[in-house]
Amino acid sequence: MADLVVDVRGDSNVGEDPRSVASGALKDVTMAPVRLGPVTVNTPVVLSPMAGVTNWPFRVLCEEYGPDGLYVAEMITARALVARNPKALRLCRFAPSERIRSLQLYGVNPSITEQAAKIVVDEGMADHVDLNFGCPVPKVTRRGGGSALPWKTDIFTELIQRVVKVCETANIPVTAKIRVGIDHEHETFLEAGRIAQEEGCKAVTLHARTTAEYYGGHSDWSRIGELKQTLDIPVFGNGDIWGADDALAMVAQTGCDGVAIGRGCQGRPWLFADIRHAFEGSDERINPTLGEVCRVIERHARLLTEFYDGDERMAVHDLRKHVAWYLKGFPVGGATRKAFMECESLADVEREIGRLDPEVRFPERVVDKPRGRVRFAKKVHLPYGWLDSRTTTHEEREALFGDDPMDASY
Ligand SMILES: Cc1cc2nc3c(=O)[nH]c(=O)nc-3n(C[C@H](O)[C@H](O)[C@H](O)COP(=O)(O)O)c2cc1C
Repeated sequence: MADLVVDVRGDSNVGEDPRSVASGALKDVTMAPVRLGPVTVNTPVVLSPMAGVTNWPFRVLCEEYGPDGLYVAEMITARALVARNPKALRLCRFAPSERIRSLQLYGVNPSITEQAAKIVVDEGMADHVDLNFGCPVPKVTRRGGGSALPWKTDIFTELIQRVVKVCETANIPVTAKIRVGIDHEHETFLEAGRIAQEEGCKAVTLHARTTAEYYGGHSDWSRIGELKQTLDIPVFGNGDIWGADDALAMVAQTGCDGVAIGRGCQGRPWLFADIRHAFEGSDERINPTLGEVCRVIERHARLLTEFYDGDERMAVHDLRKHVAWYLKGFPVGGATRKAFMECESLADVEREIGRLDPEVRFPERVVDKPRGRVRFAKKVHLPYGWLDSRTTTHEEREALFGDDPMDASY
């Protein structure tokens, strides 16, 4: 299928920092638990799903710092789950300590996503299911998935309907994660939020960027406020929360019911403790020494080894990106960073940790500052003719799903 390319030049309302709330107003922020049907999130802070990051070892670390939040697993491709792909099944695992087992499903085909939801329900795999309508990655949007899907209201509605219906049989709440739209000429978030609400979603998370904005500039929090005004179900605000004060500012500015944190906690799982403190009106913040960070790295490495069924090599390879984030801003030389990237075993990691000075204090200059991806999209890839209408024709559905051997309805 050919790609439709949307020109994203000039497509930026971002860049301005929206945290223009007087500090006095932040003190007045009070947060109530958020109820998602039978599931209650006592501290309304969500670990936003991140592919390659939010597997159970990382979630366990985050949850230890913020025991009452919601920690969502990275997206599971519905068809991979239906095909029982071993990698997908590994990502569906939870640690015994996880209080709310939260899975995110990604699918384009309503029938296959429904089948995946049925597996989750029949096998008691999760307590909460989130649906991914926010992914901007070309390989996803060029198939009409992720943040491209809300544009096609018929598929979007049907997919939510089918998943909610299956999950309702087990009283599992379903939520939806969306973006503002494809670009500012093709915004979908208010309508998508309304549809999600009507079809039985218990909450919506809005990443306040368009697909075209990808991860560039600053998210536009005013859109979160607009969505909050539009919906009756809880709204989680998402985008550019780098520190606890950002979380307070987003709530004060938008009235959102809770916040979702992605990149801000990469290499900083203690951010969940900071935000919990902030929501409780406390100024307490955690800025660990290098020695304390190393204890977290060691624990992370051991948990990853368990995740990979004892395979230290896979664990330590997975750990590499986390180590880069953990060490961000610390005066640790290039040779040491490189040595971490070449570790092949837990012993190698221990050895490199042993070479660091545990007394070094947390670097001020990276506290609550942006980290991780920060780019605009070069272009948005969509299926051919995607933007021509808001619903799909028979031919378009055929092109999207027609040759799918897993889909009995085609
Ligand atoms: C490495 C990475 C992987 C991501 N994977 C997912 C994903 O699997 N599902 C999803 O809904 N969003 C995913 N996201 C988006 C985040 O959940 C979040 O919406 C986005 O990063 C904006 O929040 P932030 O500014 O707090 O990072 C990912 C983001 C990053 C940086």
